[in-house]
Amino acid sequence: MNETHSLRIESSAAKPMHEKVAATFLREKLLWARERSWNLLDEIRAQLKEGMTERQAFQLAMNLCATSGISKQWHKPVIRFGPGTILTFADELNDQYKLKRGDPIYIDLGPVWADQEYGLEYEGDVADSFIFDGQNIEAKKCIAAAREIFRATEEEWMKTKISGIELYNFIKKNVEKRGYKLVEEVEGHRISDFPHHKYSKERLAKINFEPEPLLWVLEIQIKHPSLEIGAFFEDLLGLEKDRRI
Ligand SMILES: [Fe+2]
Repeated sequence: MNETHSLRIESSAAKPMHEKVAATFLREKLLWARERSWNLLDEIRAQLKEGMTERQAFQLAMNLCATSGISKQWHKPVIRFGPGTILTFADELNDQYKLKRGDPIYIDLGPVWADQEYGLEYEGDVADSFIFDGQNIEAKKCIAAAREIFRATEEEWMKTKISGIELYNFIKKNVEKRGYKLVEEVEGHRISDFPHHKYSKERLAKINFEPEPLLWVLEIQIKHPSLEIGAFFEDLLGLEKDRRI
């Protein structure tokens, strides 16, 4: 593996601080961390049980992280049920509400995966929404809208390579056009070798330059205008294949 490896971020030294990565950073390793994170999310999803509280789901996720060999997380797992789906990582988990059939759920993970080859740690950051074991017409529509907006945003960005500010203007317009509300505190951010905070704490929605592919995470959370129903998706911005949705 040498300095001209196609998956190494080129001339990191020349990059502005907000898009830097470690000298030994490889995109393929970040994609590996992404894939492991999605697998972990699916594993957690499969073990959710009717009657659980958000706190119990969090504990389940922590246990599965431990058995997957994760010793660090850049952010702890966030699992929200029913009315909790309109809330964000900043809100307390609900100890009372019990998961029931037909509830919307989102799972948001931020595990850190250690790469033995170069001794670097890579951040994962993925979130997905679904309905728990049953029917819920309004939640289904909300999740479908969020998925479509996510895909449309990715496609728009791949075509136009607009700035983060323009990207979130595009998202907001699309969310409103569909009759939903954008959860504006959820704004996207950098991702890299751990921790990305040493390079940048910028929010994607606030940057006035074109973000580098695969160095930023696109987050979109929307909510119903009147019901306690929300949907949240996040993934790397700039994926050309193996998209989740
Ligand atoms: Fe996340």
